Amino acid sequence: MPTQKVSTMRRDELAFALRQVVGERGVLSDETDLVPYGHDWRHMFKGRPCCVVLPHTTHEVAEVMRLCAAAGVPVVPHGGNTGLSGGATPDDSGHQVVLSLAKMNAIRNIDVIGETIEVEGGCILQTAQEAVDDKGLLLPITLAAEGSAQIGGIVSTNAGGTNVLRYGMARSRILGLEVVTSEGQIINGLRRLRKDNAGYDWKQWFIGSEGTLGIITAAVLQLTPKPRHRVTALLAVPSPAAALQVLCAARGAIGETLTGFELMSGSALELVTRHRQLKVPLDAAAWYVLLEASSSLPGLRDATESLLGDVLKKEMANDGVVAESQQQEADLWALRESITEAEGREGRSIKHDVSVPISSIPDFLRTADEAVMRTFPGTRINTFGHAGDGNLHYNVIVPASLDAAALNRLVHDVVVYFGGSISAEHGIGQYRVDELMRCRSPIELAIARRIKNALDPQNLLNPGKVLALR
Ligand code: MLT
Ligand code: ZN
Repeated sequence: MPTQKVSTMRRDELAFALRQVVGERGVLSDETDLVPYGHDWRHMFKGRPCCVVLPHTTHEVAEVMRLCAAAGVPVVPHGGNTGLSGGATPDDSGHQVVLSLAKMNAIRNIDVIGETIEVEGGCILQTAQEAVDDKGLLLPITLAAEGSAQIGGIVSTNAGGTNVLRYGMARSRILGLEVVTSEGQIINGLRRLRKDNAGYDWKQWFIGSEGTLGIITAAVLQLTPKPRHRVTALLAVPSPAAALQVLCAARGAIGETLTGFELMSGSALELVTRHRQLKVPLDAAAWYVLLEASSSLPGLRDATESLLGDVLKKEMANDGVVAESQQQEADLWALRESITEAEGREGRSIKHDVSVPISSIPDFLRTADEAVMRTFPGTRINTFGHAGDGNLHYNVIVPASLDAAALNRLVHDVVVYFGGSISAEHGIGQYRVDELMRCRSPIELAIARRIKNALDPQNLLNPGKVLALR
């Protein structure tokens, strides 16, 4: 077919031109090399890239973008492939170029006095964390996937994680960005300023845009002093309402030292003990809270233990254990961080990454549980998440035949009813586009489309992700 031939020829020409920019080994086009880039890590989304480009410098990224723009070829940015919404997976047309910054992984600068780090987009989060650790500094973005997640992906998805209640989402750590536009221009905004009110804060448009507005090639991140003391505790609580009572008691007793406050249902930990052979050091309970506090001042352990004594006495919690060593801390966190994997082993699950006002968590759970059980009997709800910041992973284990779209609509309607969000931290990707279009107001969508059109007029940056254009 003539059209097929023309597009095949153009793809070959483009691959040749891209090799001129990034070198022979900077373009992957063998079918076997492309396989890891054609699916997300959970194998939920599948696609077929035309090729994978691995530039070494920001200028090479800009040149790649110029070539793709001239050829009218879409570009799908790809970080550590740890996302849960299919944002980094190309479609199956075989026409989309995957752009990986894996070779741009340098730490460009650490400013100890200013408490900043400047890193390239392909740098692994854990590498950046380790680089500042022995300087007494902390890069406070903490995710189960930190050993693979790349800074470019962290920025472009505005990643959350387990210490958002203390340190905020990734957005709140970002002081400056270097971005390559869809047309191949470089915006150098790598400022290390805590205060910068000079006009529009354009970097915010790119943070959380999931690669649909520009390519994040480097970032300046705000660090914080590394706390010298940490206390981790696991509590058994009778209900989500009791968990919130513990949260309020903790705020009162240990205040700003509260770093993590995770809620896990008894059934979530039952999955973990079954599939990962991990042990819960407390008797079986309906709900659990994993609490972490950290501070540089002495006295944290005493204050936290006295808090726990208090919540046990007042029967907000039924039982509790405080980690006595780093190994015990790691064991407690392993329970929490293994839930996703254990859930995956259990069978098909439909994830809902929602947030509601913190005070609405118990009512949201009651209402959503009733609605799901009534409409989809036989499914099992696996609730856990970052209750301290209002983010719940309201996942449902379902039979293969279940209509996922209907379940999503049901859960998200309850979320919207409680004034919540249908994506607290995982982003929209390709997974939640329809639901975002349904749950956001026409004016919010119109503004989003205007911004997309202004920054990516040909719709070549990660098309089909985040936003339906009409
Ligand atoms: C987590 O917090 O463990 C993940 O964001 C949740 C998930 O896998 O659903
Ligand atoms: Zn999470």
